[in-house]
Amino acid sequence: MARVGNSIIKGIETKEVINLLNRAYADEWLAYYQYYIEEKVVKGIMKDAAIAELQEHAADELRHADMLAQRILQLGGTPILNPKEWFVHSNCGYEEPKNFDILAILEDAIKGEQCAIRTYSELVEFTRNKDIVTYDIVSQILADEVEHEEDLVALQEDIQEFIKQIRGN
Ligand SMILES: [Fe+2]
Ligand SMILES: [Fe+2]
Repeated sequence: MARVGNSIIKGIETKEVINLLNRAYADEWLAYYQYYIEEKVVKGIMKDAAIAELQEHAADELRHADMLAQRILQLGGTPILNPKEWFVHSNCGYEEPKNFDILAILEDAIKGEQCAIRTYSELVEFTRNKDIVTYDIVSQILADEVEHEEDLVALQEDIQEFIKQIRGN
């Protein structure tokens, strides 16, 4: 545990920061798996573009989980050790892909990103001017999640436009 490093946290409980980071950590693992499996089962028009995007997002979510785990350890906490706990502590839960059509898969993924954006916005607000190191980490992740949402929405719009053109209207 970083002793002097942790003494610079002001006005919020370290325990509470660890708790919130662990909840986000659970989200990231579930988001990672959601992208991992979506990329495998997705079907339909422009599937290859979606697969590339989903793979990239899966890698980002896993990297986020790693950033959070490192910070939890630095603060003297323990990252969630049992995957069963992911569902108990997650903010955003898990959208099991039920419809493998590309537009439905993208819709599920967009919902997940929107929840992630809300979660990290709260974490940024909570740590601002209080825990600079965590603030920096959650700000970086927030920027990635905003980019993720934008990429997915852009892809969804391209596909919808392409379908319109094919139908000739
Ligand atoms: Fe993430
Ligand atoms: Fe994301």
